[in-house]
Amino acid sequence: MKLEATSAKNSFKYSWLLSRIFPYIKPYLFRIFIGFLIAIPLGLLDGVTAFALKPYMDYVVGGKTLEFTILNHDFTIESITMAFVLPFGVVLFALVQGVLKYLNEYITTWTSQKITNDVKIDLFHKLIYMHPQFFDENSSGIIISRYMNDPSTASSGIVEQIKTITTSLFGALGLIAVMLYSSWRLAFIGIVVLCIAFVPVALIRKRIKNASNKNMVIGGNITTNINETYGGNKIMTAYSLQQRQENNFKEQIFKSFDVNMSLTKRAAWMSPLMYTIASMGIAIVLGYGTYLINSGQMTAGSFASFVTSLLLLYKPVKTLGNTLTNIQNIFVAMGRVFELFDLSSEIKEAEEPIEMKELDRNIKFENINFEYIEGHSVLKNINLTINKNETLAIVGNSGGGKSTIVNLLPRFYDIKSGSIKFDDIDVRKFSLKSLRDNIAMVFQDNFLFSGTIKENIMMGNPKATEVDLQNAVEAAHLNELIDDLEQGLDTELGERGLTLSGGQRQRVAIARAMIKKSPIVILDEATSALDNKSEAIVQKALDNLMKNKTVFVIAHRLSTIKNADRIAVINEGELVELGSHEELMQIPDGQYKALYEMQFKKQEQPV
Ligand SMILES: Nc1ncnc2c1ncn2[C@@H]1O[C@H](COP(=O)(O)OP(=O)(O)OP(=O)(O)O)[C@@H](O)[C@H]1O
Ligand SMILES: [Mg+2]
Repeated sequence: MKLEATSAKNSFKYSWLLSRIFPYIKPYLFRIFIGFLIAIPLGLLDGVTAFALKPYMDYVVGGKTLEFTILNHDFTIESITMAFVLPFGVVLFALVQGVLKYLNEYITTWTSQKITNDVKIDLFHKLIYMHPQFFDENSSGIIISRYMNDPSTASSGIVEQIKTITTSLFGALGLIAVMLYSSWRLAFIGIVVLCIAFVPVALIRKRIKNASNKNMVIGGNITTNINETYGGNKIMTAYSLQQRQENNFKEQIFKSFDVNMSLTKRAAWMSPLMYTIASMGIAIVLGYGTYLINSGQMTAGSFASFVTSLLLLYKPVKTLGNTLTNIQNIFVAMGRVFELFDLSSEIKEAEEPIEMKELDRNIKFENINFEYIEGHSVLKNINLTINKNETLAIVGNSGGGKSTIVNLLPRFYDIKSGSIKFDDIDVRKFSLKSLRDNIAMVFQDNFLFSGTIKENIMMGNPKATEVDLQNAVEAAHLNELIDDLEQGLDTELGERGLTLSGGQRQRVAIARAMIKKSPIVILDEATSALDNKSEAIVQKALDNLMKNKTVFVIAHRLSTIKNADRIAVINEGELVELGSHEELMQIPDGQYKALYEMQFKKQEQPV
């Protein structure tokens, strides 16, 4: 399944998406509701300052006394009292608004982070169990953005939007109420003009979306580029590929520049246009307002309240306009997230999985056909039986399918036809965990995780005892290395610590495989990258690992191959010869013989 950087097929099925995200929101509904409740007064309070201008203008500036009746009691507030009360009132409201804002922010962030975490955790869980082919097909940049960025946009976005929409909506309503209270005629004009002013925004939404899609692809490419620069650092330096990487990087950056500039060119005049339309509205309002005041239909205070409200109204309305775009982005992100949720590993667990205990008799490959990409056959009709505790060496041309054969055993990939059987039970019937628990693998390039040497070895078998650990260290010929280290087995590896040599890494990997104590061992070119001396040490470690195990070994070392019980020659995906070294050497014009003459023979002569 190749992921797209931008689109997912279900991004426009809104109700379906909401029903998918709902289970994640559900546990926090009460808190979200509280946030919503707080957002209402928070929005409404926007109107208060504007509203306060009216009494300020009419009574304080105008020097009038305020008289009103509540429950048959007459109240009068002198102009001078008002002059003192109003400023305090403004500060008080600001305080109330500040407290509400804080509470709202706190509860919104809390819930949105929680929901995002839940989604991320579930998504990461899916990611780590995806089949290897998924990682073969998708670049790191796409994986990172789709698994890490989208969940935040999708889930925290919803809560954030609830907050923004509520405050803006009630903010706008409050201000409109003040406007209507001040003068319904002016309010009508103001609102109509405001609506017209926002038409251009609706028009550019699509362009913004296009641009943001393009930027997403570019972002993915840049992440991939940086990851490759990191992972392929040595090759980059050795082949002076810095220029190439830099050019790739520049190309993406410039592309992003073009995308953004073309958007700006075509969209940036919308905002000034809006202002122009709005200013016309304000001009009309001013003119008409002056008329209303002069003709005594409106007080100066009401007019000041009105104009302030109108100006303040711009922000919440603009925010509401943007929310439409934001919500669309959220749905797009949600579409992408739930597309990932619906992916599942193509390596399926059996319905009623059998636990694999040990290997009792043999492993059989029966009529195996395999292809990674449809139509490109990699293994053709392989038949092969390996007995318990036998060592099978696999040799053959590069790209012939040696690694592929052994990768089928732990079901990294599933065969297309035929079957692999452990003690006559199809490999697909075992539980994946028990199958993989029974197989220890050492590769040419062994990945060590950040953590200590001990942790890396114990990954082979977390339940191993201290004695097991010591035995594995010894058998993997790691003592010398570890004795030299100040912190011994507790030395940190990886990004935070020590960098091991190729041979040292391989021996740590061998110790990891050894501590696993699994009956089946797969060695894929486990010694090919080493020099003679370290190879001899690693070889000893491997000999220990291979003792009393069923072993598949892909190797270039003649001694390993010769010591194997049998040798399988795989050429272009076909098993062409099978037998012991002596037997295969007997075949006139045999392929093994040819390989031997070409590659292995010189290893026998002392250097
Ligand atoms: N993940 C993959 N996706 C698609 N094709 C692949 C993948 N891995 C290997 N192949 C292809 O399958 C064929 C067999 O590859 P394989 O790695 O099994 O060869 P090999 O015999 O181990 O070679 P080598 O000695 O060079 O390691 C090659 O043509 C290779 O291009
Ligand atoms: Mg290989």
